[in-house]
Amino acid sequence: MCGIVGYVGDERKTKSVLIEGIKRLEYRGYDSAGVALLEAETEEPVVIRKVGRVDNLSNACKKALKEGFHAVNGIAHTRWATHGRVTDENAHPHRSSDGKIILAHNGVIENYESIRKFLTTKRYTFSSETDTEVLANLIAYHYQKEPESENGLSRFAKSVRKTFNHVEGTYGVAVICTDYPDRLVGARKGSPLILGVGKDECLLASDVSAVIANTNNVVYLNDGELVEITKDGYHISNWDYTQIEPVIHTVDWDIEDAEKSGFDHYMLKEIFEQPKSLENAMRGRFSEDASTAKFGGLNIDVSQLRQMDRILLLACGTAWHAALVIEYLIEKYARIPVEVEYASEFRYRNAPLDKNTLVGVISQSGETLDTLEALREAKRKGYHTMAITNGVGSSIARECHGGIYQHAGPEIGVASTKAFTSQVLIGAMFALYLARLRDMSYGEGKSIVAELKKVPDLVHQSLSEAEKIKEIAKRYSQYPDFLFLGRQSLFPIALEGALKLKEISYIHAEGYPAAEMKHGPIALVCEDCPSVFIVESDEIQNKVVANMQEVKARGGKVICIQSEDCTIPDGLADEVITLPKVHSMIAPLLATIPMQLLSYHIAIERDCDVDKPRNLAKSVTVE
Ligand code: G6P
Repeated sequence: MCGIVGYVGDERKTKSVLIEGIKRLEYRGYDSAGVALLEAETEEPVVIRKVGRVDNLSNACKKALKEGFHAVNGIAHTRWATHGRVTDENAHPHRSSDGKIILAHNGVIENYESIRKFLTTKRYTFSSETDTEVLANLIAYHYQKEPESENGLSRFAKSVRKTFNHVEGTYGVAVICTDYPDRLVGARKGSPLILGVGKDECLLASDVSAVIANTNNVVYLNDGELVEITKDGYHISNWDYTQIEPVIHTVDWDIEDAEKSGFDHYMLKEIFEQPKSLENAMRGRFSEDASTAKFGGLNIDVSQLRQMDRILLLACGTAWHAALVIEYLIEKYARIPVEVEYASEFRYRNAPLDKNTLVGVISQSGETLDTLEALREAKRKGYHTMAITNGVGSSIARECHGGIYQHAGPEIGVASTKAFTSQVLIGAMFALYLARLRDMSYGEGKSIVAELKKVPDLVHQSLSEAEKIKEIAKRYSQYPDFLFLGRQSLFPIALEGALKLKEISYIHAEGYPAAEMKHGPIALVCEDCPSVFIVESDEIQNKVVANMQEVKARGGKVICIQSEDCTIPDGLADEVITLPKVHSMIAPLLATIPMQLLSYHIAIERDCDVDKPRNLAKSVTVE
């Protein structure tokens, strides 16, 4: 949450690189946006901040800056408010009261009150309610005391380093000092920051999507690292000022992947991208000879894995739902007990864990702070950890012992779609892998590999229901409440369906195991509360049909998402969405597709901003 960008390079490009950059980071927060630019002619700073979306800021810049305005460097920010209301004054960047330092921050400064008190005694003043403003003033305070450097880090960079010796909390920052127009300083702890290395230009950003239009070469900074950038190069150092040799990664996707490509919304594009993202999740990960899945980065040998007699999966939000599906799959096919817990609860609960427990975390971004801290807690206790993440080079990817990358490409829509299905698919492959290390036969493994390989085509086929779902959405968009009901591995899909609808259309929705309905939620059933059932033609199909009857008997509407061979009595469901009959390992993944389309089209009918739902942010880097 909160996105930051910094740029030093071609003066003519500075403003547009920054505005375009934070536009791509808007998924991290969109309460307000701001930019600080050191004007090329005067080297004086111009700071423009506006409540609302980046478009507001862009319009304000057009009005405020004269034709041909160029800037030697600049920083920009898009905010998800934590401390302080959503106002222009609280928008970043923030400037020290002596005017020397300007800073954009992502994270939370926990000891800001004591720093503020201290700085007030030193006659620094404050004009916002944010925790961030103390950073600008504290850097300014250290800067005026710091002697000019003879070699190594500049006086400016040293004052940033000194500041963070006194700060508790999390931060990714991009900082300007008006005395150093040729450079910017960045630093991180607990919030992501990457360095983009272009030709005659360098960038700082919260993630790759903000720099990809300029360069594919990036350095993922580690916690505690500080970087000083100029257009000709960069210098990375750690806490004790030791220079760090960077590892430059080449990003394997480009700007097109982060565009809407003709779709009205990122969410819709990402729903339709699923055949490709699922293909990518599987690529090179099957061993035909051994009839199993294979993973290159688990960093755990087979005998160690064979000894694991328990798996604990930790995640938040949609990724937590993926973990619940994976629990069903691993327990069913590999017969290993799995527990799923909210990462935020695990961290403080001090749960007793068995010795041979594998701890897995699941996170699209790889930056969710609750999940990252849960991972750290598990590592601290000595457990072997693994991650399923889409965030290449993310904090979680770097800190876990091993893991599996999703390769789903950038997911920009705040409501997760393609990342969820790819997590579920990878979970299914992991269940197969574990099962083949235990009791699953070669023959069964072979048939499951064949089934999994069909997934992209099956998803493609399911997407063809989109027009029909759009019509259903029109009929149901004005209902105030929804129930989502499914059983076994389809229960987490009911939870995910309810979450998706809540997130993007602000309709109250609840997901339950269908049988649980009679123990409470049935009280909600009435003409105004439709129930979405997800049902397969399995041994408990009739029980779910009985639950549908109970809903109908109470005047509730039934929307039924069913596999094509289900035998639901004629007329019981008001709406029917049919899916191909598939192997039970794949059924939850496939049932997700109509859920995504239903919530998308309902949200569109209600005129909601599906890509940027109110109050949400995609990558939540605060607790
Ligand atoms: C936020 C997002 C959710 C997401 C969750 C976990 O709450 O709004 O859509 O599922 O974070 O994100 P992660 O990146 O860890 O999967």
